[in-house]
Amino acid sequence: MLTGAFNLFMTLSELTTHVAEQFVETYGRPPRWIVAAPGRVNVIGEHTDYNDGFVLPMAIERYAVMAADKSSDGKIRIRDVADGVEPALIDLSSPVMPGSPKWGNYSRGVVAGMLERGINPGGLDVLLHSTVPLGGGLSSSAALEVCTATLLEAATGKKMNPVEKALLCQKAEHEFANVPCGIMDQFISVMGRQNSLLLLDCRSRETRLVPMADASVQLLIANTNVRHELSGGEYAQRRSQCETAAKILGVTSLRDATAEMLESAKGKMDEVVFRRARHVIGEIERTVHAAEGIRESNWATVGQLMYASHASLRDDYEVSCTELDAIVEIAEAIGIKGGIYGCRMTGGGFGGCTVALVKTENVEAITNQIAADYKKKTKIEATIFVSRPAAGATIIKA
Ligand code: GLA
Repeated sequence: MLTGAFNLFMTLSELTTHVAEQFVETYGRPPRWIVAAPGRVNVIGEHTDYNDGFVLPMAIERYAVMAADKSSDGKIRIRDVADGVEPALIDLSSPVMPGSPKWGNYSRGVVAGMLERGINPGGLDVLLHSTVPLGGGLSSSAALEVCTATLLEAATGKKMNPVEKALLCQKAEHEFANVPCGIMDQFISVMGRQNSLLLLDCRSRETRLVPMADASVQLLIANTNVRHELSGGEYAQRRSQCETAAKILGVTSLRDATAEMLESAKGKMDEVVFRRARHVIGEIERTVHAAEGIRESNWATVGQLMYASHASLRDDYEVSCTELDAIVEIAEAIGIKGGIYGCRMTGGGFGGCTVALVKTENVEAITNQIAADYKKKTKIEATIFVSRPAAGATIIKA
């Protein structure tokens, strides 16, 4: 499922044409359905979703796209356009369980969830192409899950309620990929809107659009191109540390805790648990303020909140890494004078991407500077691009 540099920058319409052509080449007939679901970047609100807090993501112009037609053998067969990727085969005649190849489990989980709801597409020949970088913290797995769910909607003509659809995809990730993720990634991939961020209240699941149509600023994403393997267990551990903190504070979740409550309970908890909770409580507040800042085009304030978020994730939550820190330090050195308002790691952490709020007029210079300085510091090539807030999952050909 890895994509080359050229493919990574394809627009959705180029990608659609490409996948349709590849489908004909692979299966010898044109596809009947084409669907797409985007990856996402989280502007702020990290590790808050499973604490009932707020998150502020946007869908990006990087997509998982599937072209499909009915198959003749009653099985769902998903092939990736990339060479050497083992196809995923889902046999609908027996209960759908996790299996191999591993990447197919995201789709298996979704198919299992749809079958439970009586949505049975029958056999399908599917071709997949994803431009969401794998392991980059941009939700390549949520894009794949939501893309699969959207394909099943197209093939059966049964449209799901968006919240139910996102929750079904989250459940697939919990049960078929063993990642106890929150709801952010699947929600934004389903509900993203062009030119808007989404302020999502992860407790009530209410969403509010935060328009970001000002062409003078952009969100610049820099992929460190490193992924530290400890992420799986570390994520679950953070989650349970937050639950421990909430229990000690006597609240249902850290959403209900305040900085004062935490301070006065300091003696009752482990120092690490204290710092984890301090991150979450501060981050929920920063997210709400950042959404206000964006509404008011108060870019300097939003930028400061992004830097504060990064420091907290690095020092209190301990989910950053040297490569992510390196990019944030480079951004700080470039500063507002050079066109950067703020920068932070985005997504689960331990590698992946940073997101920076930058002046549009400086994008090229900033891209070159980050690439050069990052290479000097780490000997690694970063992949850097900007994205406007994109629309959520769509049925392109019904
Ligand atoms: C991963 C998870 C999300 C969220 C982020 C951290 O992306 O899938 O649910 O918890 O990490 O903010």
